[in-house]
Amino acid sequence: MAELSQSVRLEHDGDVALVVVNNPPVNALSWHVRQGLFDGMAAAVESGASAIVVICDGRTFIAGADISEFGGGAPEAAGLHEVQAAMEDAPVPVIAAIHGTALGGGLEVALCAHYRVALDSAKFGLPEVNLGLLPGAGGTQRLPRLTGVPKALEMMTSGRHIGAEEASACGLIDEAVAGDVDALRAAAVAFAGRAVAENLPLAKVRDRDDKVAEHRGDEQVFADFRASIARKTRGFLAPEYNIQCVEAAANLPFEEGLAVERRLFGELMTGPQSAAQRYYFFAERAANKVPGIGKDTPKIPIERAGVLGAGTMGGGIAMNFANAGIPVTIVERDQDALDRGLAVVKKNYERSRTSTPESVAARMALITGSTDKADFADCDIVIEAVFEDMDLKKSIFTELDAICKPGAVLASNTSALDINEIASVTSRPESVIGLHFFSPANVMKLLEVVRGDATSDEVIATSMALAKTIGKIGALVGVCHGFVGNRMLFQRSLEANSIILEGATPAQVDRVLYDFGFPMGPFAMSDLAGLDIGWKAETSTGDTVRDLMNESGRKGQKNGRGYYTYDPETRAATPDPEVEAMIAEFAAGKGHEQRDVTDDEVLERCLYAMVNEGAKILEEGIAIRGSDVDVVWVNGYGWPVYRGGPMHWADSVGLAEVVEKVRHYAETVGGRQWELSPLLERLAAEGGSLASYSN
Ligand code: 3HC
Ligand code: NAI
Repeated sequence: MAELSQSVRLEHDGDVALVVVNNPPVNALSWHVRQGLFDGMAAAVESGASAIVVICDGRTFIAGADISEFGGGAPEAAGLHEVQAAMEDAPVPVIAAIHGTALGGGLEVALCAHYRVALDSAKFGLPEVNLGLLPGAGGTQRLPRLTGVPKALEMMTSGRHIGAEEASACGLIDEAVAGDVDALRAAAVAFAGRAVAENLPLAKVRDRDDKVAEHRGDEQVFADFRASIARKTRGFLAPEYNIQCVEAAANLPFEEGLAVERRLFGELMTGPQSAAQRYYFFAERAANKVPGIGKDTPKIPIERAGVLGAGTMGGGIAMNFANAGIPVTIVERDQDALDRGLAVVKKNYERSRTSTPESVAARMALITGSTDKADFADCDIVIEAVFEDMDLKKSIFTELDAICKPGAVLASNTSALDINEIASVTSRPESVIGLHFFSPANVMKLLEVVRGDATSDEVIATSMALAKTIGKIGALVGVCHGFVGNRMLFQRSLEANSIILEGATPAQVDRVLYDFGFPMGPFAMSDLAGLDIGWKAETSTGDTVRDLMNESGRKGQKNGRGYYTYDPETRAATPDPEVEAMIAEFAAGKGHEQRDVTDDEVLERCLYAMVNEGAKILEEGIAIRGSDVDVVWVNGYGWPVYRGGPMHWADSVGLAEVVEKVRHYAETVGGRQWELSPLLERLAAEGGSLASYSN
């Protein structure tokens, strides 16, 4: 055995050389890995090896370029293209032996081996698009040459990881092996022996032409593909750039295609979208870490869950547990409500694209309905999702305290209420926590984990781990009205509702925010949720536009009339002049002068009010880090990830500019939301950053 670099070594098995990468946690292509691989090719040949296997220690094959080196700063070392050329041009067969995930630059390295052998559990993908990039090491040219154009388009624009079976079927790998890493190593060495014995060609993917030739000059295949992903990729640059690279692969010689890849990669890498998406990659991983809580903090095993309330949220929350294979008991106040709730859950499962009658039955079998809270007695966690009413929640937690076993986690899905007050009625406030899911709870990725003053580390650690188990991104926040997400949303709603009294229309506000990248604006959102939720005719004061809408029978999409009118067939929204006139008259009655509100003002007021509130949230220690605020907004509220999140975005605009605008609106508009956050003011003065601020 010989060390080639700090993370790569050379071994021999008979006359086959093994170049082994060991760069935990994911064998990313850090500078010493590249240098080791490069030197490894020469050293293997020099040692007289008849073939070379490239294989990795640990849990995975190379999972990509080292993203932390993207900003620069790594020592000089062999470039990825040099490593790849050394592999392709080796005078003996090079076999990539793949386990875990071969992603990004890792798959691109494997594409430069002459053959690929993988465990049947391995996964393959080019996820660069999720970092606002495209594969920059020849992957855009080599993948289509192996798999064909349609498959490459789909993989590169979605970033999807495919399994070994699919990879075999599309020609990406040459052999799939059952078993563990030792079996993989033995199979790769055996493959190498066969390659030598049978004198197999030193196949270079770059020389393949058959699969790309099929679509040479075929503009239609690309036009159709663009149309098929247009809605999902609106606003993102990287998917389109990936498509252009595959077009180049189909239409140009390899080297010219590489030049297109290099140019477009450079544009993305130096642009703001990829900077935001790379920032976000680490933000999401940081959110999972809680200072003071480590791997050794004990966790409560969650083997059985309970959910109280089978309404909009309760049903979706229960689905998360069933999807993770955890049995869940769902309790409602009466049989009718329970039946209704369970029917919705079943319908949701049936509607899923990939469901079969068997899969629906298997999921439903994990969900037990009941009308008796005593059935929570053996649950390790109970999540309450009844109406948003403090007195009701307190009486429920008093009951749960009496019923649930000692040590069980008692959680509330409240959107805004005080977790400390809820915990105060129990004999075990250390077990009480907020688990704030987002609607639809079986789909939305975010879980705000709300720590009360008394919540124990064990319960926090359990909740953060649970988030991962059920496929959510957990962000730990503190108690305040609305926590992080809704507290900032309230500020945006306040501004949106003021602006429409000053002359902007709901459609204008929605358009500005949609163009910024949100899936929909606040008024379209209200129409979708239902304007009548929580509104009662008896208590209406007629004081807000929402009262006005309800009083005139406008409930939103559900009755086809809200801020917009909706086509009964297509549900297409049309701005309604009657609504605009109603709002103008209402505003005049309140003494608001009507004026032209510019799109810039709409954007600034909606978003800077949020940023200012986000800074106050940080200042109060409600969020641990600025990047956690961004994780909340990207996963819970549809903030476009290519703008990083409100904190990253504010940094990119310039905090001094934000402060100036907050001061301007404090003078011209006024209100608590425009009282400048001292933290924001300080960071702007110091040239600091909100996104990297940490408590
Ligand atoms: N570079 C640097 N660090 C990386 C990394 C990478 N490519 N991929 C993962 N890490 C780090 C994570 O930050 C994390 O660090 P931490 O423990 O200090 O927080 C650690 O590795 C483990 O990562 P996860 O928590 O995500 O572990 P999982 O087991 O859940 O997932 C994974 C593993 C599927 C490999 C996932 O980490 C992943 O998807 N990584 C990114 C893969 C990727 O995007 N590759 C393409 C990179 S761009 C590229 O290759 C450009 C090329 O075309 C030139
Ligand atoms: P919902 O009205 O759809 O469902 C509440 C359910 O609780 C109803 O089915 C009701 O019958 C049941 N219930 C009421 N009292 C009960 C009792 N004593 N015992 C058993 N069941 C009882 O309400 P939704 O929207 O599901 O909200 C539930 C909670 O989740 C609220 O605290 C809400 O603030 C919060 N939330 C709601 C979100 C949303 O978008 N709807 C998002 C995030 C949180």
